[in-house]
Amino acid sequence: MIDAPEAPRDCQLCPRLVAYREANAAVHPDWFNGAVPSFGDEKASLLIVGLAPGVTGANRTGRPFTGDYAGDLLYATLNEFGFSKGKFDARPDDGLELIDAMITNAVRCVPPQNKPTPLEARTCQPFLMNRIKALPNLRAMLALGRIAHDSVLNTFGLRKMSYPFGHQGAHDIAPGVRLFDSYHCSRYNTNTGRLTPEMFEAVFSDIKKYLQTQS
Ligand code: URA
Repeated sequence: MIDAPEAPRDCQLCPRLVAYREANAAVHPDWFNGAVPSFGDEKASLLIVGLAPGVTGANRTGRPFTGDYAGDLLYATLNEFGFSKGKFDARPDDGLELIDAMITNAVRCVPPQNKPTPLEARTCQPFLMNRIKALPNLRAMLALGRIAHDSVLNTFGLRKMSYPFGHQGAHDIAPGVRLFDSYHCSRYNTNTGRLTPEMFEAVFSDIKKYLQTQS
């Protein structure tokens, strides 16, 4: 039984992900190459759920969304909405602190081609569940993309049909907890115009309003 909110760095639960981590470690022994822990405020009202570490981003640096393009947009937006202090410099030792927010991933280890299998997402789910339970002030969650959205629903035992994923959608998923959805802030989505910075800001604006009316 898994009762910790964070996977051990050398987590062995998913053989394919372990093999990929080891292959990366053989070529880049200086990279983090482990299950990436959540980052942020242990008293957060907002939990942001990404997909999984990027190979040259979080898998390299050891901090979610740190070192790849997806993080540049996410951390800039967090800063704009007052969820961080300090300067984001794409390094885990840049001194950045999150305020009232935490970032985690639905899958904690980097998957090949950025695509975890459904079994890997299910296997990692207890860590998400325990992460959620360990946040005493949780009132909002932000799912970045459909896989993160589905992992959150599974964690709460909810049916996908009743809570469809949609950009800028919002769902009350538990007493006092609202799930917000956004397209993932990946470079692919921003390059193709599926997600613009304005669309991403609109989601954060909804979250901020919700948290302010709740406090
Ligand atoms: N980095 C992460 O940590 N998660 C993502 O979903 C993408 C990049």
